[in-house]
Amino acid sequence: MNTSALPDKNLLEAQAAWLAPARGRLLRRVGVARRRRILDLGAGYGAATGELARRGGGVVVALDRAFTAVSQTPALNVNGDARHLPFQNETFDLVFCQCVLLWVREIQTAVTEIHRILQPGGVLIALEPDYAGLIEQPPQAATRDLWLAALARAGAEPEIGRKLPGILAAQGFDVRVDLLESVERPSPTRFDFLRTLPLTPDEQSALARAEEAAHRLTDAWAQIAHLPFFLITAVRP
Ligand SMILES: C[S@@+](CC[C@H](N)C(=O)[O-])C[C@H]1O[C@@H](n2cnc3c(N)ncnc32)[C@H](O)[C@@H]1O
Repeated sequence: MNTSALPDKNLLEAQAAWLAPARGRLLRRVGVARRRRILDLGAGYGAATGELARRGGGVVVALDRAFTAVSQTPALNVNGDARHLPFQNETFDLVFCQCVLLWVREIQTAVTEIHRILQPGGVLIALEPDYAGLIEQPPQAATRDLWLAALARAGAEPEIGRKLPGILAAQGFDVRVDLLESVERPSPTRFDFLRTLPLTPDEQSALARAEEAAHRLTDAWAQIAHLPFFLITAVRP
């Protein structure tokens, strides 16, 4: 990941708050209260780590490759890379990823590592977006093409949501996929997120035009900006 692409703490916390109901459902479904060893993989500043610690039934480890971020999490901190996890085989019974696998290059290596460190019966929960499926209205306020170009330039996989279930199934996981079901009024912070990515001068101008168009649309439901999120539970048999 281009480290300049790590959004600031407030943006990540806003995103985590938006995903809270979906995250809560996934955690309940896998029986988080009886999970004894939980890894928050790509924990960032720990936007979900506190919740995992509160709801989980044991130890939570927060791992990230950005040490300055992970050192602020309310958990046991580990600086490390998803592609070479510094844990023994079958260490965890829950691995949690929120908006992380999007950024991991060599996703296959990371999935093999997640499988290796999960115990049999252990589960991966992944909440990952699918930018190619971004639904926007009206066209003057649309930013999908900017996202796709800038994410690819930053080394991310904009279609991770739709690609991940197949990658996990091929690794031997039992996969279940849900989607974020409700379309909400778009948040202006989506433009701030996009500005954290490497944009060309032309793209910066296009972003400014889209933001201005969105700003003028004040009526309820005058605009739509729905980013599909894939909500994945993958059990290691
Ligand atoms: C968008 S942030 C999400 C952080 C946190 N999960 C949250 O929801 O606030 C993505 C995080 O993934 C981390 N990351 C990216 N590639 C990684 C890798 N290969 N190994 C470990 N962490 C990685 C980044 O450093 C960053 O903190």
